[in-house]
Amino acid sequence: MSLSSTMRKRAILITGASGEVGHALIQRLAAEGTSRLVTVDIRPLPDEIRPLVTHFEGDLLNTRLLARLVTEYEIEVIYHLAALLSTRAEIAPEAAHQVNVEGTLGLLMLAADQTQWMNRPVQFIFPSSIAVYGLPDKETKLHFQRVREFEWNQPRTMYGCNKLYCEMLGGYFTRYYRQLAAGSVPTIDFRCVRFPGLISADTLPSGGTSDYAPEMLHAAARGEPYACFVREDVRIPFLAMPDAVRAILMLSQAPRETLTRSIYNVTSFSLSARQIRDRVLHAFPGAEISFEPDIKREAIVDSWPADVDDSAARIDWGWSPEYGVDRAFDEYLVPAIRRHYRRDEAQV
Ligand code: SER
Repeated sequence: MSLSSTMRKRAILITGASGEVGHALIQRLAAEGTSRLVTVDIRPLPDEIRPLVTHFEGDLLNTRLLARLVTEYEIEVIYHLAALLSTRAEIAPEAAHQVNVEGTLGLLMLAADQTQWMNRPVQFIFPSSIAVYGLPDKETKLHFQRVREFEWNQPRTMYGCNKLYCEMLGGYFTRYYRQLAAGSVPTIDFRCVRFPGLISADTLPSGGTSDYAPEMLHAAARGEPYACFVREDVRIPFLAMPDAVRAILMLSQAPRETLTRSIYNVTSFSLSARQIRDRVLHAFPGAEISFEPDIKREAIVDSWPADVDDSAARIDWGWSPEYGVDRAFDEYLVPAIRRHYRRDEAQV
């Protein structure tokens, strides 16, 4: 046993723990109860998550915070969820680059360093996004319906550029980092899922451009009017949050030799904004939903594919969503969202 492993506690590190995916992933990992969970977020944790983890409130760019983490913990897996989403990143592109790229680079370095200390690969799970794609116009989007991982990697947002570059960095750290060093250097195990728009019944995203879908649903459940910021015919793929968490965990658990690549699309259903409105109205008949497109945000969504091809994930690690569109709305989103706001009312 190495000196480091006798002194430090083994742990899984989750960044962006207060965000939507973090919130759902921590609950799943804590329910499994197999590992110590250590989290980092610039924000405090929501009450329901706090007892489940050891939390470090701080900035990922703070190298002293990262140094402190590795003196206390032997980090075996990193779920790096922290990011500024696409709309927010357009408003503050330099800050987005710092968080999304420099933050990721710092963690990749940490993972590489820990890999060498432990002499076994730290697993680095990275959620990327449909935003890495950039279709030039609506005709092309109509023509290329189900985009594969290597197609149309021409993002039109800072967030998409950041995610695409970090995917490449992950591949570099897995295959080539310290390639000129003497002898062989053990490398990290970087794995990435590209998410479509995510919809959760428990949380709302903040600062994304696919947010119109969850916002429409949550507004209806709260009895508030909602003006959708894209046209009725704008279509992108979506995934319900439980499936997003499942995808992350399935990819993490897949034997390394079954993976033919490090980047995988995952998706479930593709809907236009009108189809989402219709489903929300079906569940909440009194909902007031209008369409007031914001031309600039809409143009971002127009550049994302109408659907993605996730067959590589299906073949390599058996991915298949549990929540198709009907089940997502009828068995998860609508009932869970009703419970969620009823609980909130009861607490007032
Ligand atoms: N949900 C993200 C965003 O809107 C896209 O992956 O920025």
